[in-house]
Amino acid sequence: MNTEEKIDEAIRNPKNLGEMTGADAIGTAGSSDCGDMLRMWIKFRNEDGRRVIDKATFQSFGCQTAIAVASMATELIKGKTPSEALAMSNEDLSAPLGALPPMKIHCAQLVEGALKNALTGEAAAPKVLAPTLSDSFQAPKSVKIKFT
Ligand code: FES
Repeated sequence: MNTEEKIDEAIRNPKNLGEMTGADAIGTAGSSDCGDMLRMWIKFRNEDGRRVIDKATFQSFGCQTAIAVASMATELIKGKTPSEALAMSNEDLSAPLGALPPMKIHCAQLVEGALKNALTGEAAAPKVLAPTLSDSFQAPKSVKIKFT
């Protein structure tokens, strides 16, 4: 299966799609290129004295590639500590889909941005951010990714 087919398949059956109630961390990122936004919710658990990601969900408008990458990424980060997840690049997060075409790399960067925003701003995020992604267009706290 090539990358395009893998993306199509991931979109047909996206994993971990939707808001999470009771999340420990929420992160949002927006692309200044295309205007798309993506939000990620994360819940932690303790495992052998370590704090690891129990589950993650996401919501996104518009871009199908971002949905496919977020679907993969929310599976890949399960069981990782916050610092392990933070160390993952957008290539790592989209690796199961294969190499993305250049014009779609920012879609994976959007997912990476939301993940990093969640993991670095976790204490304040659930109280500060709007409850839904559409509300967040007015929300003050989000990461703007600049693409060059
Ligand atoms: Fe902009 Fe995919 S086209 S996030």
